[in-house]
Amino acid sequence: QAQLAIMPTAQPKATYTEPVNGTVIDFFEIDIRQFTAQTYPLSSGVGPTTYVGYDGIAPGPTLSMTRGREAVVRFTNSYDRPSSIHLHGSYSRAPWDGWAEDVTNPGEFKDYYYPNGQPQRTLWYHDHAIGITAVNAYFGQAGFYILEDPEAPTTLPIGDYDVPLMLAGKQFNEDGSLFSPIDERVSLYGDVITVNGVPWPYHQVEPRKYKFRLLDASISRSFSLYLIDEANPSVHLPFAVVGADAGYMDHPVTTDSLVIAMAERWEIVIDFALYQGKSLVLMNERKFQTNEDYPETNKVMKWIVGSVVTSDVQNGPLPTHLADLKDPGSHAIIDHEFVFERNNGQWLINGVGFEDIPNRILAKPPQGGVERWRLVNKAGGWSHPIHIHLIDFKIVSRTGGRAVVEEYEAAALKDVVYLGENEAVEVIANYQPWGGVYMFHCHNLVHEDHDMMAAFNVTDVDL
Ligand code: C2O
Ligand code: CU
Repeated sequence: QAQLAIMPTAQPKATYTEPVNGTVIDFFEIDIRQFTAQTYPLSSGVGPTTYVGYDGIAPGPTLSMTRGREAVVRFTNSYDRPSSIHLHGSYSRAPWDGWAEDVTNPGEFKDYYYPNGQPQRTLWYHDHAIGITAVNAYFGQAGFYILEDPEAPTTLPIGDYDVPLMLAGKQFNEDGSLFSPIDERVSLYGDVITVNGVPWPYHQVEPRKYKFRLLDASISRSFSLYLIDEANPSVHLPFAVVGADAGYMDHPVTTDSLVIAMAERWEIVIDFALYQGKSLVLMNERKFQTNEDYPETNKVMKWIVGSVVTSDVQNGPLPTHLADLKDPGSHAIIDHEFVFERNNGQWLINGVGFEDIPNRILAKPPQGGVERWRLVNKAGGWSHPIHIHLIDFKIVSRTGGRAVVEEYEAAALKDVVYLGENEAVEVIANYQPWGGVYMFHCHNLVHEDHDMMAAFNVTDVDL
């Protein structure tokens, strides 16, 4: 077992101040290239892995942002496959949202503009290139993007006690190389669970509170997580969920299990003060939903709890109220129903795939309009995490399957919702702050590539 890795924070190459209104813009540069890294400990005898990622590491460097300071990130493609970059969780303007066909070819670069005007949240940047998103993301094109709001300070753990954890299922060949999903048409779950690129890592922690920013960056694997003391595995330990896709939740929700599907973010707080000298293991419920399972996929990572607290900063009780969520409003009428299904080996939405160019705009919400969308997982046997670009939504109901909106989902605003086997979910959003054509799709990236993706046009003029 190897130690948890923490990704380095990218440093801006330059900072500009806009002369008229004083807006500050940080400029970053990130290079997409191939590299090799030793994924398994050298002592295991397993050889190095070839990745294609951001700035020679996978996951990529963490982009750390401050609300109110804008950013331009230049992504240079130094590899031999096209790329497109989506900042997942950002209300980016359409030209910088990573539209799948807006690819940057090998040898070219594109400057992406990010407004950073949203409340505190955990975002991530990842590839979105047409037809090859799964292979690009799987081989390393994914990284954290953390937006903080200095005007809305938190009492939750910060600094070394605020740790991003990127979960991903992978499959390695015996020589250490990655098994490629390039020929997959259904799903690649992976028999190895990596956290921040390390298989089943351990993390040494102090006996105090920590915040973990969980992200499922798998191409196909979802998790149902729970926490145990290694010495007493039958008891599922409680922890608090404090944040989601759109930042802090209304209030903390204490739970002993948490579902996280592809592209979802959940921020959790664990108080290790109760477990001095113990080892806690983050576990995964086997065969959750449609995941294929393997001998070790019931484990995620381990925390080894020490006995010394070096800093007690922001280690107090959790606040009972965390954030005033921007209520999208209520809306009784279903504006659109979208059925996600497999049809003749294709993955489609209402019978349409992204390649069906004349028909792929499935909704035209007016800018600032509130809409209720009903998302239906028709045939059983599959699950689909559905992501809608641009907006944050409220989950109002789930019928069939699990038949409940989880308590932590109800306290959150989201941009991905897990549509489990036979489930139908209704979501309400305000389609703002600006117009443009945006994608929505299944975040099982194999489904997305073949072809479970469509678009909506937020119309900012009266047509
Ligand atoms: Cu995380 Cu359209 O993607
Ligand atoms: Cu799907």
